[in-house]
Amino acid sequence: MPVITNRPYGTKDVLPAEVNKWQTVERCAAETAECFGFKEIRFPTFENTMLFKRSVGDTTDVVQKEMYTVTAKSRDNGKDPEDFTLRPEGTAGAARAAIENGLLNEALPQKVYYIISCFRHEKPQAGRLREFHQFGAEMYGSPDASADAEVIALAKSLLDRLGLTNVELFINSIGCPKCRAGYHKALKEYFEKRRDELCPTCLDRLERNPMRILDCKSPICQGIAKDAPVILDYLCDECSAHFEKLKRSLADMGISFSIDPKIVRGLDYYTKTVFEFITKDIGAQGTVCGGGRYDGLVEELGGAPLPALGFAMGIERILMTMENAGSEFVPAKKCDLYIASMGEAAQRKAAVLTNQLRAEGYFVESDVMGRGLKPQMKYANKIGATFTIVLGDNELETGRAKLKNMASGEQTDISIGESFIDEFSNNLIVEMFEDKLNTIE
Ligand code: HAM
Repeated sequence: MPVITNRPYGTKDVLPAEVNKWQTVERCAAETAECFGFKEIRFPTFENTMLFKRSVGDTTDVVQKEMYTVTAKSRDNGKDPEDFTLRPEGTAGAARAAIENGLLNEALPQKVYYIISCFRHEKPQAGRLREFHQFGAEMYGSPDASADAEVIALAKSLLDRLGLTNVELFINSIGCPKCRAGYHKALKEYFEKRRDELCPTCLDRLERNPMRILDCKSPICQGIAKDAPVILDYLCDECSAHFEKLKRSLADMGISFSIDPKIVRGLDYYTKTVFEFITKDIGAQGTVCGGGRYDGLVEELGGAPLPALGFAMGIERILMTMENAGSEFVPAKKCDLYIASMGEAAQRKAAVLTNQLRAEGYFVESDVMGRGLKPQMKYANKIGATFTIVLGDNELETGRAKLKNMASGEQTDISIGESFIDEFSNNLIVEMFEDKLNTIE
């Protein structure tokens, strides 16, 4: 029978057989972030729309074309209905949560990371989804370029740990509002000469925020933008010095990078450093990580003036790159024991033993389908159980059973009474040890 409706266009299901790949990335990301002193933060999947308009910027593609916005039907406390938007990214929500909860009044720097789903109404293609997932990290409080280097080092360290060596780092500086005034003027003059060719959105951007034209996805606008002036030629002394220090710090840490003066990023909050990690291995959507400094955002959202910076990685793109590179994933947990049973009394005993072992943290299965012995053993094989036990009247009477090692066929006599857990765990330890020895040999 067909399902009543398929999943929405641009979304994905992650099935049990591949969830270990996700867990590999998520656990590695969390562990790496924690080594760098970042702590996990969780915040809502939707926020007031105004938050994204003010932070991501209302001249960006994300805000103008890609947000999933709903107007709540009922009024809260008699207030006007509000617009809510599914988060298109994590920086705004993390900053809002940090300000609202007083995190930024504590010892600085504050460092947070998150693993979240994000939503953008984009045209789906390989590596571009409407619901996608990000691992992100944000640091609040440091104006110094050593913080930029640390944040980049975190991203690089995670990519290395995941086995992604074929990913290149590109950096740029897009300056501060001071140096950007001159740059905007130069951009305006440049694009003004070709205004007839620009798309309608970029015509509006020409008036309100000419830098955004550099990020337009229309091939015609991209062609025109190719020869536009570059921001690096307009940096003020402070932004130049910041960029120089970042380059030195990255070189000190042995992190190789290229400078790409064309990187402006698709979100409005950035100042000074911007960066992207890009791979050529997964097609057109090869940016696996993007980030930068956003020194004005915390104040813009109502906090005290506080510099900040961070990045986010697209988990789907990371997984695609890992699969392409043949990276190793942590295997799914293996079933330690299947307890087969014949007859009702044996099935009840099997359930009790199963429960006892599970309480000790073992992965144990027994029959819940009311099947005969043969299909039970077939199932045990299918799920790859390390050991099996068959319980019948004889075993219940003697209080002893045969523990069968499914790989070697070897059988050991063990108690199914009081010492069951100890005897089973001893056998499992020996098996794990031998398995390890075999892999080393
Ligand atoms: P972003 O460049 O918009 O930056 O997204 C970060 C990463 O998310 C991208 O490099 C890409 O890997 C992934 N990504 C973005 N859109 C999609 C999509 N539609 N489908 C699949 N993956 C996607 C941000 O979101 C900033 N908040 C990053 C940041 C954090 N900057 C400072 N702190």
